[in-house]
Amino acid sequence: MKIAVLTSGGDAPGMNACVRAVVRSAINSGFEAYGVFDGYKGLVEGKIKKFDRNDVGQILNRGGTILGSSRLESFKEESVRKIAVDNLSALGIENLVCIGGDGTYRGAMALNDMGINCIAIPGTIDNDIPSTEFTIGFFTALDTAIDAIDKLRDTSFSHQRCTVVEVMGRNCGDLSIFSGIATGAEIVITKDTGYHEEDILKQVAKAEKVGKRHLILVVAENITDVSKLAKKIQANSSYEARASVLGYIQRGGTPSAFDRILASKMGVHAVDLLKKGMSGYAIYTKSLDVGHIELEKALIVEVRPSDLYQYLCKLN
Ligand code: F6P
Repeated sequence: MKIAVLTSGGDAPGMNACVRAVVRSAINSGFEAYGVFDGYKGLVEGKIKKFDRNDVGQILNRGGTILGSSRLESFKEESVRKIAVDNLSALGIENLVCIGGDGTYRGAMALNDMGINCIAIPGTIDNDIPSTEFTIGFFTALDTAIDAIDKLRDTSFSHQRCTVVEVMGRNCGDLSIFSGIATGAEIVITKDTGYHEEDILKQVAKAEKVGKRHLILVVAENITDVSKLAKKIQANSSYEARASVLGYIQRGGTPSAFDRILASKMGVHAVDLLKKGMSGYAIYTKSLDVGHIELEKALIVEVRPSDLYQYLCKLN
């Protein structure tokens, strides 16, 4: 029984914690564990190495992915995927855990159809996988964005500026909306809000009218050219305006507590499924709902997760 693990697409903090969880829990469950380097590209090139538990030591807290990652357009072609399947089969590897975003999921689906038992794990800072509330890496990237926006606010306040900040997320507005909420951004623009320049200028004028000394506008990437928007705002208000693109710093850095734990749980869960002979699944989490309960029941009804110890046992 053998399990390989790969990371693919944009790297995300917590991917290493997930690789560690897959390898350690696979070995603890009686599998041989393998690491695939450089995503699907490495799978096609046969970059596959047997791992022991020490190969994933000292990586839980590291950003990026020790396995490396790639985006391989030609993996959409069956003939290219066939090479990957043959490489796995030559080593007798029947199971594959694929950590990444939507492109990774499509690759995993296709490989599963070709006879490799695949499980997909959501790892992307974009939080754009519909079937999970949160992806590995999202909250760390969010912390990075919040830290950067807090710093930009200092300068924005000092100089009475309107600061336009572009946040990543590809086509998903979550990083923008969450960072907007957490930093008290005056205006947030995403695909969901739509981009209406006149409305933005009206909101800026309104802020000016109520005496706001400075403004933060968070704009999701792929919406507009933030430098041009800043110039427009400066030309139409009394604020000086500046644009900052946060860019790839959002992808790096030490994973947060949340991402380490989410990644560890998801890695263990993936191996548990493969052990049960289940494949063609994607792992999800759904946990941060806010609700309400009668006060008299609030100290009796158990909502907190009680299964963490069971994960810990499989990770060491
Ligand atoms: O998917 C993560 C992400 O960082 C997106 O937010 C961004 O649009 C894209 O990847 C950038 O991709 P690349 O690393 O190929 O430039």
